[in-house]
Amino acid sequence: MAGRFPFPIPNGWFGLRYADELAPGTIETVRAFGTELVAFRGEDGAAHVLDAHCPHLGAHLGVGGSVVGGALRCPFHAWEWDGATGACTKIPYAKRIPPNARLRSWTTVERNGIVFVWYHAEGKEPDFEIPEFPEATSPDWSDPDRYEFTVRSHNQEMGENAVDSAHFRTVHGTLNVPPAEISEDCPRRRSLQHVEMKTPRGEIRGAIEVNQYGMGFAATRFTGICETFELACTTPIDEESVVLRYAFRQPRVGGQNPTGGVAAALIRDLIKQTKEDVPIWENKVHRARPLLCEEEAPIAAYRRWCRQFYSAPRG
Ligand code: FES
Ligand SMILES: [Fe+2]
Repeated sequence: MAGRFPFPIPNGWFGLRYADELAPGTIETVRAFGTELVAFRGEDGAAHVLDAHCPHLGAHLGVGGSVVGGALRCPFHAWEWDGATGACTKIPYAKRIPPNARLRSWTTVERNGIVFVWYHAEGKEPDFEIPEFPEATSPDWSDPDRYEFTVRSHNQEMGENAVDSAHFRTVHGTLNVPPAEISEDCPRRRSLQHVEMKTPRGEIRGAIEVNQYGMGFAATRFTGICETFELACTTPIDEESVVLRYAFRQPRVGGQNPTGGVAAALIRDLIKQTKEDVPIWENKVHRARPLLCEEEAPIAAYRRWCRQFYSAPRG
């Protein structure tokens, strides 16, 4: 591969949109996995994802197309494409629909208020699931506070950040180098770290429990000074860039969203950390055989875990 990274786009579930961004009847254009896609919600309420370009004469279904029931109608000659199967269901002027009239339809599920699609380089069916986390949709937790970054990097490189203990001190100013207890169960990976963080209110102690399902999704629980639940989606745009999305929720106080204070400071600090990581991610190279010291065994372990998501492992 001539690109910047020696690994391809990983297989797995990737968040394309938040469920509430996809109102019935709306069509969103999304570039992901090196492909142009359209995401829409049918009039039946189900979210669907299709390749964006019409197999007929190539029009973009997201530019002037419309939702008809559970299908998308092409703006050019009004052929209709079923969201769930990708089959052509109607050609307004033809006696017969060509038997091979089909567009790629992407396997889609909604979990935790996110529309996920399954990407697999060889077109294989999903082999794991994303669980529901109660905090993601519970009315007892605040409205989500959302952030989005486009980053010239790769899922593996950005995920490595979490097991790279030493950089917390140098890049983020964290006081101790937090030891992590890590457990792996195929596509799932859980890490528990005890940390101290600098906030405007001084140093705080707490724990960070990260539950990763594949390389595209992680749900994190911050406990200690202020309960925070974070959904993180890292979705490849192509082999060298991703969209990183965070949604934070915190327990409501007297039925209201918490405002200001420590709750807000924690989220500000996490966003500050991402902004500190971005220039490192965008400018580093991938060392396939890095010089690691003894304390950095978790980096090698993380890389081994990543390999299961590549159709053609390259490093
Ligand atoms: S290009 Fe889509 S119907 Fe003709
Ligand atoms: Fe970092």
